[in-house]
Amino acid sequence: MYIAVVGTGYVGLVTGVSLAEVGHRVVCIDIDAAKVKKMSKGISPIYEPSLDELMKKNLTANRLSFTTDHQEAFKESEVIYIAVGTPENEDGSANLGFVERVAIDIAKHVRKDAIVVTKSTVPVGTNDTIKQVIRTNLVRDVKVEIVSNPEFLREGSAIHDSFHGDRIVIGAESERAADIIEEINRPFGIPVYKTDIRSAEMIKYASNAFLATKISFINEISNICERVGANVEDVAIGMGLDHRIGNQFLNAGIGYGGSCFPKDTKALIQIAGNVDYDFELLKGVVNVNKHQQQLLLNKLKERVGSIEGKRIAVLGLAFKPNTDDMREAASIRVTEELVNNGAFVVAYDPVAMEKARQVLVPQVAFANSASEAIKNSDAVLILTEWDEIKELDPELFETMAYPLVIDGRNCFDLELMRKYRLEYHSVGRPAVR
Ligand code: UGA
Repeated sequence: MYIAVVGTGYVGLVTGVSLAEVGHRVVCIDIDAAKVKKMSKGISPIYEPSLDELMKKNLTANRLSFTTDHQEAFKESEVIYIAVGTPENEDGSANLGFVERVAIDIAKHVRKDAIVVTKSTVPVGTNDTIKQVIRTNLVRDVKVEIVSNPEFLREGSAIHDSFHGDRIVIGAESERAADIIEEINRPFGIPVYKTDIRSAEMIKYASNAFLATKISFINEISNICERVGANVEDVAIGMGLDHRIGNQFLNAGIGYGGSCFPKDTKALIQIAGNVDYDFELLKGVVNVNKHQQQLLLNKLKERVGSIEGKRIAVLGLAFKPNTDDMREAASIRVTEELVNNGAFVVAYDPVAMEKARQVLVPQVAFANSASEAIKNSDAVLILTEWDEIKELDPELFETMAYPLVIDGRNCFDLELMRKYRLEYHSVGRPAVR
């Protein structure tokens, strides 16, 4: 199959590379010429395990190419994936400007009958709009069909997820189009669920909203655990043994971040509002998430009193481990508040330092290692559960004058921490003093 993928963010690039890996001829299109040049050499613009290797392998095999030229790319394409961004508008709704622009480009340049597949997360009904935009702007006498094929991959394990996902959802207006997209995906060996377009669009939002709900739920349980002397980790294990609940996504912490959950939860509240439905539960989920980040700072303030003039080490800056993505990372607000309260902040992340320098307030200093950040600090805050951080020797904390560790990700075993001369506060678990 000749496939074009428009947009080379996480979703587009991983989709293109994975489709090439299973034998399709894929051309990826992006408007950013510098990025295209880099990708053509097999250099991924994002940090994602295994992505560079697969890019190089498929470029060499001539199954994968990159271009800025829509006209050229659409010439042979039988299937065109839309994977451009849908950033958040000020009112929380999804901005569809990029998606509509692509629809017009497709209408102008497509030369053969084609199937247009939307991978981007778009509000229910958007694929109907895409169809209309393409059909009213079509220049040639060709047939274009629309398919919604939402993406469920996670950053940091995107390649793994492409080959081992739980399901592929295909929402199509005709059986023929659904069958073609199923066939394209057959080599992945992942179960396919076929439905109508609007239901497929909704599955994506409902899935992300449900996962975000699980996180806010366990975070609230963790806050209660702290007050009643229970341990949220044991509670989550006990809950998860019930298959109806499941044992995943029950890690209490400082809340969810990243480019998806914050944006998609707000967009679904907006989608519901547009049809006069007040999605109360989801509003609660979003609110709980906002408070959860603040709790960590409250714990710090409770322990040290004023943080003015204190040196605070912040370990882990990316919104989660195995990515350099800083979008909606808790570290942004946490470090800003520390700085605003007069603290001297020394930050460290194994991978995301370069991106962090661009988004954190300029007063934040960066250390070359976790131990450098910890040394001489008055307190350590842990925001991301990187393996490198989880594997730190707790002896390192003993280099502080008064070792105070406030862990927003439950990185350390309580029994282990009890063996050291330190004070350790985590989420939903008893404090170690
Ligand atoms: C999420 C979904 O998991 C993917 O299925 C979906 O495709 C993607 O959004 C998307 O819509 O594109 P991602 O944002 O990469 O993927 O990251 P997750 O691993 O889901 O983590 C999201 C946030 O939740 C992180 O900040 C993480 O630290 C937090 N989290 C996750 C918790 O606080 N507790 C948990 O138990 C799990």
